[in-house]
Amino acid sequence: MALWGGRFTKGVDAFTQEFGASLEIDKAMAQQDIKASRAHAKMLAKQGIISKEDQQAIDQGLVHIAQSIKDGTFKWNVDDEDIHMAVESELTQEIGAPGERLHTGRSRNDQVAVDIRLLAKDLCVELLQANLVLRTTLLNQAEKYQGVVMPGYTHLQHAQPVQFSHHVLAYYWMFTRDFKRLHEACDAADTNPLGAAALAGTTYPLDRAYTSELLGFAHTAPNSMDAVSDRDYLLDLEYACSVSMMHLSRLCEEIVLWSSTEFGFITLSDSYSTGSSIMPQKKNPDFAELTRGKTGRVYGDLMALLTTMKGLPLAYNKDLQECKEGPLDAAHTLSDCTRVVAGMLDTMQVNEEAMLRQAKLGFTAATDVADYLAKKGLPFREAHRIVGELVLYCEQHHKGLEDLTLEKFKKASPLFEEDVTRDLDPRGIAYVRNIYGATGDKAVEQQLSEAKERFDKDSEALDDLSSQK
Ligand code: ARG
Repeated sequence: MALWGGRFTKGVDAFTQEFGASLEIDKAMAQQDIKASRAHAKMLAKQGIISKEDQQAIDQGLVHIAQSIKDGTFKWNVDDEDIHMAVESELTQEIGAPGERLHTGRSRNDQVAVDIRLLAKDLCVELLQANLVLRTTLLNQAEKYQGVVMPGYTHLQHAQPVQFSHHVLAYYWMFTRDFKRLHEACDAADTNPLGAAALAGTTYPLDRAYTSELLGFAHTAPNSMDAVSDRDYLLDLEYACSVSMMHLSRLCEEIVLWSSTEFGFITLSDSYSTGSSIMPQKKNPDFAELTRGKTGRVYGDLMALLTTMKGLPLAYNKDLQECKEGPLDAAHTLSDCTRVVAGMLDTMQVNEEAMLRQAKLGFTAATDVADYLAKKGLPFREAHRIVGELVLYCEQHHKGLEDLTLEKFKKASPLFEEDVTRDLDPRGIAYVRNIYGATGDKAVEQQLSEAKERFDKDSEALDDLSSQK
């Protein structure tokens, strides 16, 4: 018979019991559940609501249960609907009456809320760690390949030459903003709902600030109904995961393109590639594709919870039981994908010549040639037209701009001199763009040092978070 045996004359049938249970998914928050129960019992004893002896018995029992769950010896009982019941019934079996006093001034409603908030914070820390691993790899690659030039694209058409490091650092900044979003999701979860009980608070003189302190929460929820019924902090987490997956997915799309025969910009390590069961020559970027593919499920997790929440009247509703699987899935997926992509980038080979060869194609120097004329006093629109005509000529005669004679240039505009050739080399073009944030050699150098500074700040912030746990 369930915990509410007093009111009922028979239990639900086996299938319905299973349907209504959340035990399987709750196992992921077993340690958080026990941590919160230990804090609750300690507070009850401090407030004189239970005796010191009862609290000690409860604490020992809970420590023992936590250990048995960790080493896999805990006997799960399918009759227990959720982790709260599983732990409480085992505790009562182990220590008797004191175990039955643990639930004083508490409901599973504030219990589940505190568990998920603790779990969300733990997940954020794990994700922030993975984020820093990836960013370390991006920084290393950007530093290692400084000076390497590739075509920059718009519309996936050759646009202007850029440094490979600059391209890599673009992702670095995206993941830096993801760090901030994940950190904010952690802050959003950092409020203690314990003491809200079922929805209305309780007549027991609970010290809510004390459990907040014991559990490392920065805040105590100011409204018991809000405390048990909202899950917006999980949405924040899922949103942060979704955005980071989107960034990973874009990067993976580039990895897939770059490792193709058409591009040949990178060669993935064998340890991050797979072969084909039929085509002996194949080497596939499976893990980049898989990461791109998994982005969909993380977006789905976010959409599922938004939808679950939208029609719920205050306060707790059983619908809320559905809110745990998505964030766990989103966080685990992002954590795994972030680590896989970091490994893939860390071990890939960068084919500098292929990048440079492509950087020369597609008239990537055209903007600089037009700028050359504009700097000599021609209105930019006019310069743009003249160079456009040169490009058309080249296309019709299967030439590049660098194949044109000075005479041909001069025919297009007398302002062209010998030194125009300087503006035709993709490396030169990339290196001289040195305003703040541009792809030039000095600008990228400066960007790198700013990126490292930011990394140090973020890793300090993560140390602070981890030490609060
Ligand atoms: N298993 C429930 C959940 O995960 C715990 C809270 C149940 N509360 C209730 N009043 N039925 O949400």
